[in-house]
Amino acid sequence: MEIDDLEAVYEIESASFPNTSWNIESFLRELTANQFAYYFVLEKEDRVVGYCGVWLVIDQSQITTIAVDRREQGNGYGRQLLQHAKEYAGQSADILSLEVSIDNDRAMKLYEKEGFLYGGIRKDYYGPGKDAHVMWVTLNE
Ligand SMILES: CC(C)(COP(=O)(O)OP(=O)(O)OC[C@H]1O[C@@H](n2cnc3c(N)ncnc32)[C@H](O)[C@@H]1OP(=O)(O)O)[C@@H](O)C(=O)NCCC(=O)NCCS
Repeated sequence: MEIDDLEAVYEIESASFPNTSWNIESFLRELTANQFAYYFVLEKEDRVVGYCGVWLVIDQSQITTIAVDRREQGNGYGRQLLQHAKEYAGQSADILSLEVSIDNDRAMKLYEKEGFLYGGIRKDYYGPGKDAHVMWVTLNE
């Protein structure tokens, strides 16, 4: 992900997470001031169709965000992004984790298919009454 991508990324982000979306400044900070952050986009004919962020701190890694343009969902792009995140994190981490809203069945299906297991519930993670599952996968097995 580059600074030039941020408008397209924000368009997908705000459509995907209407109540909790990050703003452009949040992404900019991640790209320029967080040495542990790695963000990447997936492009189709030079257009950003999805993106994902990973924090990798020595042997700990987590996905911070992942989304695919609504018009492009169901084409395998989410899986490609996730597989790249696993490859990247696997350079130095043994486990990759993430949080997912307990009502986000589509995302949970994708994570399950990629080998993620359920690790517990974070109460009110997305706001009052909005719990998240913590999911994790072992890398480099
Ligand atoms: C979750 C998300 C990233 C998946 O991306 P995607 O490109 O649609 O996913 P893929 O096409 O790679 O599909 C992977 C799996 O997701 C599930 N999936 C995809 N489309 C689905 C649909 N319409 N209904 C149910 N499950 C679906 C399937 O299990 C699919 O596996 P399969 O192809 O073997 O059936 C995408 O739906 C998205 O951006 N959602 C909004 C943002 C979001 O919720 N992000 C996750 C936050 S934790």
